[in-house]
Amino acid sequence: MKLADRSLALPRARTALFTALSLLGAASAFAAQSGASPDDRATKLEKRMSMEDMRHLLQSYNTMVAQQPPGGIGTAGYVSALPKLGIPAQQQNDAGIGVHNYPLDVGPGKQPNHVRGEAGNTTPLPSLIGIAATWNPQIAYAGGRMIGDEAFRQGINILLAGGINLTREPRDGRTFEYLGEDPLLASRIDGAEIRGIQSQHVVSTIKHYAVNDQETNRLTVSSNIDERAMRESDLLAFEMAIEDGHPGSVMCGYNKVNEIWNCSNHHLLVDILKGDWKYLGWVMTDWGADHGPMDAMAGTDQVSGIDLTTGLSIGSMSSSFGAPLTQAIAKGDVTHARVHDMVHRILRSMFAVGLFDHPPVIKPLDVEGDALVSQHAAEQAIVLLKNESRALPLKPTIKTVAIIGGHADAGVLSGGGSAEVWPIGGPAIPAVKGPDWQWKVYDPSSPMKALQKLLPNAKVIYDDGSDPAKAAALAKSSDAAIVFATQWTSEGVDVPNLSLPDKQDALIDAVTVANAHTVVVLENGGPVTMPWLSKVSAVVEAWYPGARGGDAIANVLTGKVNPSGRLPVTFPKDEQQLPRPQITNAQDVDYNIDGAAVGYKWYDKKDLKPLFPFGFGLSYSHFDYSDLHINTDGEHVTVSFKVSNAGDREGMDTPQVYVGMPADSGEAPRRLAGFEKVSLQPGQSRTVSVTIDPRLLAIFDVPGHRWQIAAGDYPIQVGHSSRDFVLKGDATVAAATVAP
Ligand code: BGC
Repeated sequence: MKLADRSLALPRARTALFTALSLLGAASAFAAQSGASPDDRATKLEKRMSMEDMRHLLQSYNTMVAQQPPGGIGTAGYVSALPKLGIPAQQQNDAGIGVHNYPLDVGPGKQPNHVRGEAGNTTPLPSLIGIAATWNPQIAYAGGRMIGDEAFRQGINILLAGGINLTREPRDGRTFEYLGEDPLLASRIDGAEIRGIQSQHVVSTIKHYAVNDQETNRLTVSSNIDERAMRESDLLAFEMAIEDGHPGSVMCGYNKVNEIWNCSNHHLLVDILKGDWKYLGWVMTDWGADHGPMDAMAGTDQVSGIDLTTGLSIGSMSSSFGAPLTQAIAKGDVTHARVHDMVHRILRSMFAVGLFDHPPVIKPLDVEGDALVSQHAAEQAIVLLKNESRALPLKPTIKTVAIIGGHADAGVLSGGGSAEVWPIGGPAIPAVKGPDWQWKVYDPSSPMKALQKLLPNAKVIYDDGSDPAKAAALAKSSDAAIVFATQWTSEGVDVPNLSLPDKQDALIDAVTVANAHTVVVLENGGPVTMPWLSKVSAVVEAWYPGARGGDAIANVLTGKVNPSGRLPVTFPKDEQQLPRPQITNAQDVDYNIDGAAVGYKWYDKKDLKPLFPFGFGLSYSHFDYSDLHINTDGEHVTVSFKVSNAGDREGMDTPQVYVGMPADSGEAPRRLAGFEKVSLQPGQSRTVSVTIDPRLLAIFDVPGHRWQIAAGDYPIQVGHSSRDFVLKGDATVAAATVAP
């Protein structure tokens, strides 16, 4: 967001009490009815509301400002309580990777202040793409639960979380806030995270609906894509995540789809989301993504982040759901029935998630417990991409280790924008301002210090990497060199290309010349190119690893943790392999080039060999697959097989099931159809069984308005990644249709 307003701060304590009191009032008024359904309760309450009361719920105010309104606690969106009706305030706070707290720039050379509290006060998880790399919905649930709990303890009852835009454009600055390129994987992880958040009586959004897949021109760009392709890719991810997670709210994004603004897009919001998918919650706009009062008739229920002083939406500089909505209602352009529906949807979600019955309770965080949740997530998120001659884990007998670059002596990098989390204890090094309102923040968890603890007999020496010759000299005199390579990415700005910035490729080259035992640890937003790959002995993809990222990395490097992450995105060899080799400034992006063939489906269709395929990741153990059984019962295909740990140490594996389309479909050759993460002792086996969602066997038939499964033999492959298959068979499927 644009929004200079993000940078004004506020004192929090005095408002917390007010909020707690207003929330308490709300609870007592409605506790008695808690047996009734959310719909019944919403209907009953709505009947007692005047038109003015109802309009009150339809816009939220940005309270990330110095002067708080009564009840404000400094969140991106605030709707004050209606005490006479017992309706609690809505405190809507960002939570891309943890409960966002925003810094105030207090002048050159000074450390920023914060919106809620004087120091960083919440726990960052690894970036969402890292959570996707765990391939483990339980980890996503635990992470969601943790951030939901932290929100609850700070008086926040709505989290702007659940980012699920597919990685069509790996240069997207928000790749780290999303869940990769596959609808099934992304939706399973997102659904679990949303369930975790909402288990704490905090509403989660899912965002940014829809096809909001790059930051370049994000407020104006049109994502152009055929209906069928969209249904089978970006929309399928939302559809399945909504079914799984039941988010209380959907955030419509800034961009246009096929030339129509997302929040004015009747087809996306009414026909598909609320019609075909029967979504019962409310649609809130992204901050400034509204385009007038008629957005209400297109399916938007709430306009977000109105400026307190001007009363205008900070992006559109209008007041869509303020006076213009009142006039549109008076003229009959926006119907009373629609206003009732808007209010009903908001109240219904608030009842369903427990905002009336369980108001937030302000109390200190479980700092240690929450950090451990983050660490466990990071440990499963880390993907071992290369490990030549068992270069890793580092031998306990190693004498000297050179740690080079990436501020690894102090901490680990995190991403910028509304997902930023100012960590507890403050950033590891002074934060640096990004190109606009974003900050470059390092979480205070030093990989070097963690390694020193795990290798007490080794000399672990740091070089900041600013002079490649000096770094190479240190590497030369060490048994192993570990280069920490970083790529900062942020909301609001795409990266120009996939190269590591700041001449880090040259640094890695110089170090490899000096020491053959060079390990590269990446802390990055999304795919990067690796011109030095053949020269290094190991590569560890750590993403932005969060509050305890340094410990997680050191645990993997030393073998205390056996790496188990798998790539949720393809790493291309170079930009020429992408559907759009360059990111342009155009106002129209042609997503029909790749269509439904997002990510690995594109590489498979075009027969391109990427640097690392989707689903890839190594372990210190190895796993065998056998005994494939494919059962077809009507439209349900169930695939079962045996996974065995054939290595000599305990480890986790994620066997992946891919389904091909019948030969004449003109489709990408295969789709991820199922997966399961299993933990096995050496020599242990387990049978895994996955049932394939019928939509993954279907094409979306636009004229017929349904999913259409063609009769035929569907190739089933079970493997270690989207390019490495061990078991093969066919599922003979009868023709069928599935409701849209
Ligand atoms: C971002 C959203 C965020 C909102 C509120 C927007 O700029 O796109 O993801 O939730 O701001 O901070």
